[in-house]
Amino acid sequence: MKRILSIILAVAILATTAAVFASCGGNADTSSKTESGEGAKELHMATNAFFEPYEFYEDKKVVGIDPEIAQAICDKLGYKLVIDDMDFDAIIISVTSGKADFGMAGMTVTEDRLKSVDFTDSYATSTQVIIVPEENSKVANAKDLEKASIGVQLGTTGDIYVSDFKEAKIERYKKGADAVLALTKGKVDAVVIDSEPAKKFVEANDGIKILDEPFTEEEYAICLAKDSELTEKINGALKELKEDGTVKKIIDKYIGD
Ligand code: ARG
Repeated sequence: MKRILSIILAVAILATTAAVFASCGGNADTSSKTESGEGAKELHMATNAFFEPYEFYEDKKVVGIDPEIAQAICDKLGYKLVIDDMDFDAIIISVTSGKADFGMAGMTVTEDRLKSVDFTDSYATSTQVIIVPEENSKVANAKDLEKASIGVQLGTTGDIYVSDFKEAKIERYKKGADAVLALTKGKVDAVVIDSEPAKKFVEANDGIKILDEPFTEEEYAICLAKDSELTEKINGALKELKEDGTVKKIIDKYIGD
């Protein structure tokens, strides 16, 4: 009897421990280590970490061009970087509400976004490209897109641009990868997304390709709450990191030339 009781007790303890771990496990350990010492003030970076090579998970940690540039900025300014991963369309709200100190997510500077946030100087350029099936694609160029069914990531510039096409059918997904999955399953005719993530998707999936004709030219920058005191500081650090070649080195590490 005693033995049975202790088994029950042991199982109960194990179950509670497992539950405690499970409740922590929902959030990956995305806080990155800092060189700025103990007790440094934190800067929270809002991002959407399904956007390789700019931000993506590697061993439960968010890595990529943006986290590395952000880390270099924080090291310069003496902050501890904390990465908050969320849906892309939550980033600006998180910044304007003060939950995050800045947003960095391969985010394009647009007139519309400038109405609600400030942007730093740009640290990278990009284009939107069109991904289509390798064989029998209904879409051969940007013109065809206007009447096609198109997959995009919700709230991105890809979404914004194609939303002008009155005769197109737009399918909006939480992740770019979900839009690409829909394309590989024939649920949409094309996907419009940023060029570098597009290359990663095409590498990872058979039977799809990028059309030669790029769609737009864009500048990536860091967004902050309007009139934030941090903007000038981050811009200063970014300028130094561009001038001493750090930004280029980080970009080359992930993209090459
Ligand atoms: N450049 C595009 C935009 O600003 C897409 C960015 C998506 N980024 C991400 N981390 N999911 O709208």
